[in-house]
Amino acid sequence: MKQAAESIQGQFLIAPPAQPVADPAIPDYLEKNYWWAYLHPIAVRIFEREWLVNLILWGNFRRLRDLALAELGSPIEGKVLQTACVYGNFTQKIAGRLGSKGSLDVIDIAPIQLTNLRAKLPADSPVRLHCQDASQLHFPEAHFDSVVLFFLLHEQPEAVRRATLAEALRVTRPGGHIVIVDYHNPQRRNPLRYVMSLVLRLLEPFASDLWRNDIAAYLPPSPSLSGMVKETYFGGLYQKVVLTR
Ligand SMILES: C[S@@+](CC[C@H](N)C(=O)[O-])C[C@H]1O[C@@H](n2cnc3c(N)ncnc32)[C@H](O)[C@@H]1O
Repeated sequence: MKQAAESIQGQFLIAPPAQPVADPAIPDYLEKNYWWAYLHPIAVRIFEREWLVNLILWGNFRRLRDLALAELGSPIEGKVLQTACVYGNFTQKIAGRLGSKGSLDVIDIAPIQLTNLRAKLPADSPVRLHCQDASQLHFPEAHFDSVVLFFLLHEQPEAVRRATLAEALRVTRPGGHIVIVDYHNPQRRNPLRYVMSLVLRLLEPFASDLWRNDIAAYLPPSPSLSGMVKETYFGGLYQKVVLTR
């Protein structure tokens, strides 16, 4: 893994950092709970099918992706950070909307995910990929206009989720946005409530946190926010939360 990580860092950082930074280690929660979805080469080959991700999201992938995209503007003229890779074409869609002043950086902690994403992008793509931990970003304060967290927070243990949100806030400029799309506690009459409760209990050990609590519960104490708008979809199973710094 070490060798792969080193070559990845050289390959992906378009603008290398002034001080070389070692790639972060794969966290235990990812290795233990999600090796089958994100880390094993066969897993990446299987899940890199948009129809499969769409099926897992009950046909909502495009809708949820487009809801996040709409928050970034069109064309996108600011600096966007996508925190963690996503199967499907989310990154390409963001890149396709970049205006002359727009830019897109993508981080992920798994080198194999960055390799997979790089292969999906055209050779001349302006997107910059970085091997970084969402809970310990290497970007300066207030560096981005928008940060996107698409189905990441439910996969993280509470302490990592809190640190990821704190880092997203730190690197977003005042007035900029953090766009979060993730699971949510479905309405009682939503028939998928019971199926999803079982699925998440079996496969996603930290996801029930987002059923129990609002995302706001995981923000740092007294975050400097000027706005927070939450909307839910598909009988409440999914949520979009937009934080304005
Ligand atoms: C964005 S989430 C889920 C995306 C969604 N289920 C999909 O693929 O459409 C999955 C990604 O998060 C990454 N990830 C998990 N924890 C991370 C962390 N602390 N820092 C950076 N990336 C992380 C995983 O390596 C994986 O590539």
